Amino acid sequence: MRTVDLILRKRAGEELSVEEIQYLVNGYTTGEIPDYQMSAYLMATYFNGMTDRELSSFTDVMVRSGETLDLSDIEGVKVDKHSTGGVGDKTSLICAPIAAAAGVVVPMISGRALGHTGGTLDKLEAIPGFNTNLTLDQFRAQLKEHGLAFIGQTEEIAPADKRLYALRDVTGTVESIPLIASSIMSKKLAEGMDALVLDVKVGHGAFMKKQVDARRLAQAIVGIGRRLDKKVQALITDMSQPLGYAVGNALEVMEVSQTLQKAGPADLTRLSLELAARMIFLAKKAGSLDEARQIAETKLMDGSAYKKFKAVVAAQGGNPQALDRFELLPNATGMREIVTTRGGYVSAIMAEDIGRASTMMGAGRGTKEDAIDPAVGVIIEVKVGEKVDAGSVLCRLYYTGEENLDEAADLVEDAFRISSSKPDERELILEVVS
Ligand code: URA
Repeated sequence: MRTVDLILRKRAGEELSVEEIQYLVNGYTTGEIPDYQMSAYLMATYFNGMTDRELSSFTDVMVRSGETLDLSDIEGVKVDKHSTGGVGDKTSLICAPIAAAAGVVVPMISGRALGHTGGTLDKLEAIPGFNTNLTLDQFRAQLKEHGLAFIGQTEEIAPADKRLYALRDVTGTVESIPLIASSIMSKKLAEGMDALVLDVKVGHGAFMKKQVDARRLAQAIVGIGRRLDKKVQALITDMSQPLGYAVGNALEVMEVSQTLQKAGPADLTRLSLELAARMIFLAKKAGSLDEARQIAETKLMDGSAYKKFKAVVAAQGGNPQALDRFELLPNATGMREIVTTRGGYVSAIMAEDIGRASTMMGAGRGTKEDAIDPAVGVIIEVKVGEKVDAGSVLCRLYYTGEENLDEAADLVEDAFRISSSKPDERELILEVVS
């Protein structure tokens, strides 16, 4: 088999066989197929998609690229949560501790920043000392003790996704339904979860811009779960503006801490509670979804979710004091305000542009080898529907270097749309697919 022939066949829109997919995924994982050829294959897939059979084989080969954890010796239904990617989307760091505080076992395997969106692992690593590279024994031990552990793809668990994810991030090949579905499900299936709550983002800041595509993505992932007897419940949620106010790794950790202390933004709190409630329900810790919602609310309100998060941060080597004393988190050295020249209603905040500006300042990567700058990002000061006067601050950019600052500032300034009439309110939770 020659890689170039498979690229040509995929480019022509042909279906690849299981053996051909095995050759490609395993060859790339072991380093025999170079980045440039895999990038070409990914781009051909981006344009031509995959058949259902290809998606099933691709996901299966990705799962088998490493080990599959057996967590059956840990009592209870193991429930994870994953987002397809958004701007300011830090719900995992809130709903996971809420669910764990309610007794759910949450083995969470997450990703890094992808395209213009942030990544849970990069956010966690903004906490000084936090280690996302647990060994499988450490992961298992922490799940037993705390009911929650955060890791990324490793050389043992979903190594194919580890490599493909990093390559897609910098080759413009993220926004593909089969590539996203297989990426998410390969790591979730390898970690040994029983059920998954999926947050499929839709809108300007999401990879899926239209609800019909978000629904197709949700159905693809639910379908993979169904074939393998894993319960997947997907919420399709609005990502037309950033979630909460903070975008950027350490800034988002600060907002997570505030939210776990009942002082978070309304949209972020609401969505995190709903995701946690669904995790609690799938774990059979409540007899109905309404009861699960009440449990989630109690665990947030009585402080036990915050306590759980701090315990998990400490267990993974992080400094939990940084969650109360933000000066212990990485802090930016400069700040620039973006001000509106006209008054009116904020009618839109183009979330992808806010995410791109944050990435450009260092919150994400331009090449696979780039390091993240955990301190930088954007704090938006207004949300869609709010009234502003000429001269009001729309957002603040936090930076540590001025290299891309002007370009980022221009992008962010254009991201805010001001109109004379109040825009219609948009629902946060649009649809459930299960
Ligand atoms: N999350 C993932 O894990 N993979 C993707 O491709 C997109 C979001």
